[in-house]
Amino acid sequence: MSPNFRPVPRELESDVVEVASNIWTIEAKDYVCYRPPMQPRYPYTHRSVVIRLKDNSLFIISPIKLTSNICNEMNTLGEVKYLVSPNHLHHLRLGDWQQAYPKAKLYASPGLVSKRKDLTFDKTLSTDTTEPGWDGQIEQCVFGSGNGWFDEIVFFHCESRTVIFTDLIMDFDSSIFSPLSRVTTQWNQMYKDTPRGVRLAHTFDRVLLRDSLKTVRTWKPQHLILAHSPWLCLDGEEQVANFLDSVFDWLEPKPFVVETVMTATRFSLLLFVVLPIIGLIVLVADLIYPRFVKRGESQ
Ligand SMILES: [Fe+2]
Repeated sequence: MSPNFRPVPRELESDVVEVASNIWTIEAKDYVCYRPPMQPRYPYTHRSVVIRLKDNSLFIISPIKLTSNICNEMNTLGEVKYLVSPNHLHHLRLGDWQQAYPKAKLYASPGLVSKRKDLTFDKTLSTDTTEPGWDGQIEQCVFGSGNGWFDEIVFFHCESRTVIFTDLIMDFDSSIFSPLSRVTTQWNQMYKDTPRGVRLAHTFDRVLLRDSLKTVRTWKPQHLILAHSPWLCLDGEEQVANFLDSVFDWLEPKPFVVETVMTATRFSLLLFVVLPIIGLIVLVADLIYPRFVKRGESQ
């Protein structure tokens, strides 16, 4: 591992690890098991990000399972005031945190409000949202068209110049995988890359993603945190810029003819292969394990 990929401390003294000034991660000690369409079930390392604002309030991105230890640590750091799901998958523990911190406000990514009707959100975030609570301290930018299908909000903590990605970039720990999973995760580009399924989901809004990436570059981040990686953080402005170049090379515009042919191919693949197969799998799984599909897999 390059020294710029700062490792997670081997002996975690606490669940909460300081990354830079007024920003921490909460390292989950367990794995979230999730099966992307047409793939084996993978164990995901995962983490939350905690940002302390100037008024001592805490901004929590992707809240993970809340334990009494984490609660105690949050109470030491400040007041939990903002709970945020950056995309339509990282919402599972919002309700637990809201119960523990009833004064906290909930913020959704595009499309999440209709998915989690059991929760009361204060607002759906967009690139242009200005919230007085964190204005000038945290920037956000939506990667996607805002229709809720794989939109992701990327955040930037201005004080520490840290950018936070969730599922747009992943890096798995292959050492915990079965041989089959190592093959399928390689194929699905889950090592320091944008997963193949996410790329496919963004077949038609790549121009918007390029604009969002430009915005991220203007922030000139010095640190980068992923929700799913075996390392804590990538350090260094040049290293982060190079990493973003490498990860998002698939967004580089191609000549018009090539772009048209590739878009048509992706569209055909999506319409005639991927969607029918996913539909069939969901139908069969729902027939066999109805409760399992509706609750256990409802990320
Ligand atoms: Fe995720």
